[in-house]
Amino acid sequence: MFESVVPVSSVPLAFPAGPLQGKLASPASASSSIVSVEHVFKSVSDSTGTLVILRDIHFALAGRETAAIVGASGSGKSTLLSIIAGLDTPSQGTVRLAGQDLFALGEDDRAALRAQKIGFVFQNFQLMGNLSALENVMLPLELSSAKNARAQATEMLQRVGLGERLGHYPKVLSGGEQQRVALARAFVVQPALLLADEPTGSLDFATGEKVMALMFELNQELGTTLVLVTHDQGIAARCQRRITLEAGQIVSA
Ligand SMILES: Nc1ncnc2c1ncn2[C@@H]1O[C@H](COP(=O)(O)OP(=O)(O)OP(=O)(O)O)[C@@H](O)[C@H]1O
Ligand SMILES: [Mg+2]
Repeated sequence: MFESVVPVSSVPLAFPAGPLQGKLASPASASSSIVSVEHVFKSVSDSTGTLVILRDIHFALAGRETAAIVGASGSGKSTLLSIIAGLDTPSQGTVRLAGQDLFALGEDDRAALRAQKIGFVFQNFQLMGNLSALENVMLPLELSSAKNARAQATEMLQRVGLGERLGHYPKVLSGGEQQRVALARAFVVQPALLLADEPTGSLDFATGEKVMALMFELNQELGTTLVLVTHDQGIAARCQRRITLEAGQIVSA
């Protein structure tokens, strides 16, 4: 299990031109960063007042970089990851993905850019309960009209050790198995940027090690930039960058 079923030589080194090619061309001012987070603030208000969740978050990551986002529970890690993915909106500030200002796009274009460039592993997996493991992993491929979705999804599930569970629904899979389906779904589009929220949080040590190895393999083979939220110091130490949040602020990066 977990052996490389995709030989390195068969992995495309450049991402195929998608439907947004040209339309989303980088502005002249764009740097070589794959992701640039510029003075991002996030606050939420209700009848009891305003809560500042993120305060002046500012950093950039180059292609191929690996970064760990660390910090205590409630420090804003998941919120930051969701904003980088364009799934949540900042109250102030800018996020650029490959030079493109994510929040200058309409919802549909932002979703299309996300589908083209980002793999996201949620802290609580967010698998579709009415779809089998295989169908969950095929979904992003079908949304981008990829050919051979079934074969590619099968291969990726084999790679995370779930080749025997293709037809199983999330409710009959263990937490660790669901986490691996979520990882396969994020990996299968061979994203330029992989964002993962505690990707080994539900896995035993040995399985967690294999999943981490797979992520770093993807980083090496495809140049995928990795941003991992983790409480695991060992994983953080394997990343080139460590971004530490404390009460919504970066205290070291
Ligand atoms: N929509 C929201 N409304 C109100 N408060 C929110 C909202 N989203 C997040 N928060 C609060 O913002 C803070 C940061 O939440 P977040 O989920 O980003 O933390 P985290 O660092 O990922 O924590 P954990 O390690 O426990 O997953 C928390 O105090 C949380 O309760
Ligand atoms: Mg979180």
